[in-house]
Amino acid sequence: GAPVEADISALKPGEKMTVEWRGNPVWIIRRTPEQLAALPKLDGELADPKSERNPDELTPAYARNENRSIKPEIFVAVGICSHLGCSPTDKFTPGAQPSLPPDWPGGFLCPCHGSTFDMAGRVYKNKPAPDNLRVPPHRYASDTRLVIG
Ligand code: FES
Repeated sequence: GAPVEADISALKPGEKMTVEWRGNPVWIIRRTPEQLAALPKLDGELADPKSERNPDELTPAYARNENRSIKPEIFVAVGICSHLGCSPTDKFTPGAQPSLPPDWPGGFLCPCHGSTFDMAGRVYKNKPAPDNLRVPPHRYASDTRLVIG
């Protein structure tokens, strides 16, 4: 499939936009400073905090860092659960979901079997999803133009 270009100039902190790439939803999220600050503290709760599993498929070399991204604040991921392919929902708001802990730092919840992911798409331990969300190949054509694929 052809690469897809997204204009991220209107994306505000805490917001997400979705573009379609090869028939899949690709999320583009501008994370807040608070969301970024929470990431390193979560490593002990995650199944693959350093994204070492299947890196060629799941995490391009330029995203093999704590934020799983090129620019720290902008997170790009394929919004498809690594378990059986449902699309997780946004859980940006602490306490918004009764089944999540009140101090939930934000992330994503898969409605099918309850896998949870942090704001870098890293899956929590002891969940049915085996892997982190996929970071697709992407690059910046300019400060505000992101090319996926
Ligand atoms: Fe996401 Fe099963 S498809 S937890």
